[in-house]
Amino acid sequence: MSVEGFVRACALSELEEDMPRRVELDGVPVSVVSTEGEVFAIHDICSHANVSLSEGEVDDCTIECWLHGSRFDLRSGKPSGLPATRPVPVYPVKIEGDDVLVSVTQES
Ligand code: FES
Repeated sequence: MSVEGFVRACALSELEEDMPRRVELDGVPVSVVSTEGEVFAIHDICSHANVSLSEGEVDDCTIECWLHGSRFDLRSGKPSGLPATRPVPVYPVKIEGDDVLVSVTQES
């Protein structure tokens, strides 16, 4: 399914609070996170090194890179601490029924 570039990432009912889910959408690795009553989609690779962010912990609307501890804001992708200095892309999310739709063609 593709509506304005949105593709189905997973079922909303499959997402557990604060448990990132890694999916690949059009070849792009994405971490889908349900937290604080919202669903976010963030690029799944840390901007510091080639590490999967979905293996890190979610807290206070951020996801932590488990390797060196930088935290990325799930809303903006910006790192809040070193060693990462560059943001990671975040993507728009739409919920339709039980479908979580993400557009990896637009960065939000
Ligand atoms: S690899 Fe993510 S902070 Fe270093």
